[in-house]
Amino acid sequence: MVKDMTETNLRSSYAGESQAHMRYLIYSERAENKFPNVARLFQATSFAEKVHAGNHYRIIKSKGDAVTTSGAIFGTTSTSEDLQAGIDGETFEVNEMYPAYIAVANLQGEKAAENSFHWALEAEKTHLDLYNKAKQAVDKGKDAHY
Ligand SMILES: [Fe+2]
Ligand SMILES: [Fe+2]
Repeated sequence: MVKDMTETNLRSSYAGESQAHMRYLIYSERAENKFPNVARLFQATSFAEKVHAGNHYRIIKSKGDAVTTSGAIFGTTSTSEDLQAGIDGETFEVNEMYPAYIAVANLQGEKAAENSFHWALEAEKTHLDLYNKAKQAVDKGKDAHY
């Protein structure tokens, strides 16, 4: 069994990643006509969030229902706002959530969870960078270039 605090963090990050996965798919659809490269960026990051969610999920071995809590972003109406929402979510994960979860997992000797959080953290840094660059382009009315 995974220790309680790390398991709570796995559930919470599973929930957060699951919602990010879906949000980015929705954002991708919105960007498709005007900003096709941003749409592809959202698709790629959405897939990465699915991988993170799956990695976290598979470490949790206890059965049954559990309430999960995670940040959720609503109310965006444009690709610029979608990118800002992405930037806000990724910034929280990079600066606060994953470093704290990694520290707890390390303290508790939960190596699989620590690794899963660490891999996600490294990817979120890339997402943050790509979203910042994409937002600069979109705010000038241009598509992103890679
Ligand atoms: Fe993620
Ligand atoms: Fe991410």
